[in-house]
Amino acid sequence: MTGLFIGLISGTSADGIDAVLMDFAPAPRITATHFSSYPDTVRQRVLQLSAGRHTGDPIDELGGLDVELGELFAAAALALLEQSGTPASRVRAIGSHGQTVRHRPRARHPFTLQIADPNVIAARTGITVAADFRRRDVALGGQGAPLLPAFHRVAFAAPAEERVVANIGGISNITLLPPGGEVRGFDTGPGNVFMDLWSREHLGTPFDKNGDFAAGGKVDETLLAALLADGYYAAPPPKSTGPEHFNRGMLDAALTGRRVAPADVAATLAQLTARSIADAVRKHSPAARMLYVCGGGAHNLHLMTRLAGCLPGVNVASTEALGIHPDWVEAAGFAWLARETLEARPGNLPSVTGAGKSTVLGAIYPSGK
Ligand SMILES: Nc1ncnc2c1ncn2[C@@H]1O[C@H](COP(=O)(O)OP(=O)(O)O)[C@@H](O)[C@H]1O
Ligand SMILES: [Mg+2]
Repeated sequence: MTGLFIGLISGTSADGIDAVLMDFAPAPRITATHFSSYPDTVRQRVLQLSAGRHTGDPIDELGGLDVELGELFAAAALALLEQSGTPASRVRAIGSHGQTVRHRPRARHPFTLQIADPNVIAARTGITVAADFRRRDVALGGQGAPLLPAFHRVAFAAPAEERVVANIGGISNITLLPPGGEVRGFDTGPGNVFMDLWSREHLGTPFDKNGDFAAGGKVDETLLAALLADGYYAAPPPKSTGPEHFNRGMLDAALTGRRVAPADVAATLAQLTARSIADAVRKHSPAARMLYVCGGGAHNLHLMTRLAGCLPGVNVASTEALGIHPDWVEAAGFAWLARETLEARPGNLPSVTGAGKSTVLGAIYPSGK
């Protein structure tokens, strides 16, 4: 199948929409990128709805936000096309992850919910949309997450080197790529989620730029130990998580009313992310000598230093060293998944998600043309 594919995603950080244009012929490469940051009010509503702290009727809020985000996702795709001078007719499909607002893979009736109505995206762009990538995996007993390891294998695996890829978004996930072996991967726990909420509160900014605030504090070992005592870290894969679990309530419980200087809390939260990723890498891929980082966390210099400090003997680099800038790996993964869906190839890895079998993922919303 020839043609270009677009990938769209907004992660749990709810910072905005990453959009990439990918050309898969002759070899996969990103030909254009675009980021549309969410307006502040939209970001706030996404975070509030995700946390169950929305105002008004929940179904009205969910339904309205689904369409509003659909419009924003469509606009991001159109901006990407315009900016790159690409006619929509050349694009075979858009792969839209949407915006996760709830992820409960361990509930009695397990579910995961992504919004940004694909009908709106297809109607506004006139391009076929593949979306709803996670729920088929959940229907087969899987976590529905992480989905990126399959793409990491295609983009980053090496025949003679054990590699680990860490995607540090709101939540962090790692992919283990043993040469010739089975791909594994799981969410390790918090990525930026705690650091971001602390920055919003204490700096008034959406994130701690370059980790400067955290770098000015010192790790509070009592707080770190209390946070690391959570059962998620030691639980065996398959596992995935979200802000339903790693949230303000957990941080408050770990602080137990103690007064810790805000900069020290920031330092501790950065260390928590670094430690939990490093512990998972050491436990599940002890032979790895290379860790490639993608996601917004790759920009946090302090975090990267702490991560390297927790992994002596492991070389920590950005995925840019492997040809994909860390900001665009996830969106590229959803462009790739859209292609797998259109070609009726399985997109999930049961070795990662725990699903009963591998399966074609997603639903297809025709272009209407
Ligand atoms: N310069 C930077 N310094 C520190 N953190 C950054 C920087 N740039 C991005 N980030 C972090 O990355 C996050 C966005 O990462 P992203 O991969 O988009 O996450 P998600 O997939 O959850 O949306 C921001 O919320 C912020 O925490
Ligand atoms: Mg993001």
